[in-house]
Amino acid sequence: MNFETILFEVNSGVAKITINRPKALNALNKQVFSELEEAMNEVYNNFDIKGLIITGSGDKSFIAGADIKEFSEFTVEQGEELSRNGMRIFKIIEDSPKPVIAAINGFALGGGLELAMSCHLRIASDNARFGQPEVGLGVTPGYGGTQRLTQLIGKGKSMELLLTGAMLKADAALVLGLVNQVTTQDELMKAAQDLMGKINNVAPTAVSAVIRCVNAFYTDGVDGFNTEAVEFGKCFATEDFKEGTTAFMEKRKANFPGK
Ligand code: CAA
Repeated sequence: MNFETILFEVNSGVAKITINRPKALNALNKQVFSELEEAMNEVYNNFDIKGLIITGSGDKSFIAGADIKEFSEFTVEQGEELSRNGMRIFKIIEDSPKPVIAAINGFALGGGLELAMSCHLRIASDNARFGQPEVGLGVTPGYGGTQRLTQLIGKGKSMELLLTGAMLKADAALVLGLVNQVTTQDELMKAAQDLMGKINNVAPTAVSAVIRCVNAFYTDGVDGFNTEAVEFGKCFATEDFKEGTTAFMEKRKANFPGK
């Protein structure tokens, strides 16, 4: 795969996507989205990839939002299309059957925070800053920020951040549950890899099923309890379940085939 705006690598079964436009603080333009979609396709379909970490290039910014220079002359129709395309690709991240961790290494603003919130888990370095500053540009968030921020931190605090466009520091984001963990800049990638390692120690098919169950809670017209019952039942036909229960009874560590 030949990418210009992202870096894509796989080490020991863990893929890493680095948004790589450091001169623009890794702002998301059309090309980033199209390359991100291609990389996600690989994450979905390559059996050897067990999880994904998404980060930003450099030590200042994770992603400073959608590329403002790209959309400044857009029409109403182009604006809506930009939003729908970004939402579609972030939904691919959210629905990924492999766990996705955002390693937030600096500014996570606008579309950058929206991307981080579409990941399953978020770890931030202590220099990270979070916000939805779109109202200051005369627009709303467009990649699901009004919805996912409210899901993650509740309506009151979400309204405050969305209406003021204020920036949060990493420790405040931790208290709100916007991030799962805060580390030093130096320890960020190791912390993300360690967390991924813990997830990759358990049954991959069960991990995918849990992601589907949790996402069902947020899907209109879907009864998440029903989804859970169906997913629970499906586990009984997996090799992972056989291995997990057998290993328990044989008092040994399970070696999950991921099927
Ligand atoms: N789009 C395009 N370029 C951006 C950018 C963005 N979102 N954010 C930063 N850049 C560019 C700057 O224009 C600048 O480029 P030049 O050197 O060519 O002028 C370069 O990155 C470095 O940025 P600054 O000089 O501004 O760096 P700073 O340290 O002084 O400030 C910052 C950092 C506070 C993050 C500031 O860059 C900033 O406020 N950026 C914009 C943040 C923002 O409003 N994000 C929301 C975008 S809209 C959106 O995301 C909509 C949506 O939901 C779909």
